[in-house]
Amino acid sequence: MNETSLAGQTVVIIGGSSGIGLATARQARSAGAELIITGRNKERLERAGNEVGALTTATVDLADPVAVDGFFTGLPARIDHVLVTGGGPTYSPIVDLDFDEALRVLDEHLLGALRIARACAARVRAGGSLTLITGTHARRPGVGLSIAAIAAAAVPVIAANIAVELAPMRANVIAAGFVDTALSARLLGDQFDRRRDELRATLPIHRVVGPDDVAAVAIQLMTNTAVTGATYDVDGGQQLIP
Ligand SMILES: NC(=O)c1ccc[n+]([C@@H]2O[C@H](COP(=O)([O-])OP(=O)(O)OC[C@H]3O[C@@H](n4cnc5c(N)ncnc54)[C@H](OP(=O)(O)O)[C@@H]3O)[C@@H](O)[C@H]2O)c1
Repeated sequence: MNETSLAGQTVVIIGGSSGIGLATARQARSAGAELIITGRNKERLERAGNEVGALTTATVDLADPVAVDGFFTGLPARIDHVLVTGGGPTYSPIVDLDFDEALRVLDEHLLGALRIARACAARVRAGGSLTLITGTHARRPGVGLSIAAIAAAAVPVIAANIAVELAPMRANVIAAGFVDTALSARLLGDQFDRRRDELRATLPIHRVVGPDDVAAVAIQLMTNTAVTGATYDVDGGQQLIP
């Protein structure tokens, strides 16, 4: 049966202190969920935790597998949903690629997803969910996009395997295009406003995708118990335009 709300359910958001994760935390709280949110920066995390009335907050770095395992071990015996945001991308032309950095990012996104799934499987109740976030870079090659493309191509495959192997926990992916968040502002620097104007002028939706747009799909993936092994694009039609 599909649930109509998240009342009485515990939602864990890895990277819940900003952007897509914080927007999802707000919407999950409005839908009645108890929240456990994480981030690396303690101050930002406490601010977000207070704002959404989180049950608990924890500083966890996805780049630290021991800390990730320790975090899951410390969770309540039964949780309902886990959303993993956080773990930023790396962009570099192949000729300049720093292979150590590339390996670190791929380990965090790919094996990291499996580590989290394994840790979740012991705690997420039947029909609960794990949602991973990636990008749409695998759909169109471009200079500097190879590592982001590998991650974007692999994460849906990883989620589909999790959905089969670790059922009845469900596993899904959101593939986002440009989202108007602090991460995008950081990555684009002084090109941020120009890029947003360009997207408003060219995207089929005639506006920029915001974190609440992605969060709404994340909530849908938590509550719709028919969906598993799926990847949902949220990009305002960005990949359809030249
Ligand atoms: N924004 C976009 O256009 C876009 C597009 C496609 C995919 N995505 C992906 O969506 C996810 C969320 O992006 P966003 O735009 O919402 O970013 P954001 O606003 O920077 O928020 C990222 C959240 O994750 C936490 N975080 C970052 N790195 C982490 C790490 N290594 N370990 C643990 N927590 C970490 C951040 O807190 P701390 O910094 O304090 O740790 C913050 O709470 C990212 O994986 C991003 O690659 C974003």
